[in-house]
Amino acid sequence: MFLRDYWYVAALTSEIETKPLSRQILGQHVAIFRTESGEMTALADHCPHRGYPLSLGTVVGEHLVCGYHGFTFDCEGHCVAVPGQERVPGRADVRRYVVVQQGAWVWIWMGSGPPDYSKLPSTPWLVDTGNWSSVAGVARIDAPIELLVDNLLDLSHETYLHNGSIGTPEVATTPIEVEVDEVANVVRVYRHMLSVECPPFYSRTTGLVGKIDRWQDIEYFPPGFYLLHARIAPPGQPPDADGTDDHAFHMKILYGLTPSHDGRVYDFWALARDFCVGDAEVDVFLEKMQTSVVQEDVDALNVLHARAQAFPEVAEVSVKIDRGGLAARRVLRNMNQPVVNA
Ligand code: FES
Ligand SMILES: [Fe+2]
Repeated sequence: MFLRDYWYVAALTSEIETKPLSRQILGQHVAIFRTESGEMTALADHCPHRGYPLSLGTVVGEHLVCGYHGFTFDCEGHCVAVPGQERVPGRADVRRYVVVQQGAWVWIWMGSGPPDYSKLPSTPWLVDTGNWSSVAGVARIDAPIELLVDNLLDLSHETYLHNGSIGTPEVATTPIEVEVDEVANVVRVYRHMLSVECPPFYSRTTGLVGKIDRWQDIEYFPPGFYLLHARIAPPGQPPDADGTDDHAFHMKILYGLTPSHDGRVYDFWALARDFCVGDAEVDVFLEKMQTSVVQEDVDALNVLHARAQAFPEVAEVSVKIDRGGLAARRVLRNMNQPVVNA
């Protein structure tokens, strides 16, 4: 069951070349590629002739040519040529998906109707390269989206699962505040840690040593977008009354949660920072560390899902730290959207 009338992250911009990328999103096979002029296009990854994956075809100019018998498609998905005859069959078109590039991420509209651009998440930090630098990546998890939502809404796991990189004791012990905007379908979780240990993730990049104030303000926009506003500052220095916060370091930690098929999910991530902008060494450090952090989550969720499948009858015990995750589960469940079997 998928919520289709939403934007999902389909790919990293760096993954899209003239050689088509095949990706299964919400159960549907999609081929994403650039034409030789650079236009980004996504078509159903299924040739209407005999069903060969179009992602195994070749871009020629502004067209994609099927790799089996040469049916040729334009960027709208119209079949414009078939070998051996002048006439092109009327039923040989394929579905085109609307895609939008925003910095390091490519979004795709999976709804059956026209795209609703008012629902497209805003990610200005990935685009404003003058004030922000970013790194991005993707992993696939053999577990459903709900487990990734649980994971991201309860960051107390950082203390244990990500000990030594981003986890410190205070993440687990600092109380959270949870807000649910029932109208806009947004779940917010706030954790403000004051005068706490600075983990390597931030000490190596900000240069701060000793204690720090560390804020984690989460916004989850179900189903597929999660945004963590991280604020790192010397202790006892909150933002100024007018909102100016130049003495702090800010990082936007973005996740795109994109169901694939059979209870699997793509875990797209991006880190954007307003410090060390343009510093390639910091890019390399953060990309390496975040890749490792994400892999720790992937490994944990894979194990968790396998165990849950083997023992589905085992009940959960929820506690205070789960309030954000439980709120997100409820919002996801209640979303008044048409659902379609994969
Ligand atoms: S399967 Fe694509 S042209 Fe035959
Ligand atoms: Fe994690």
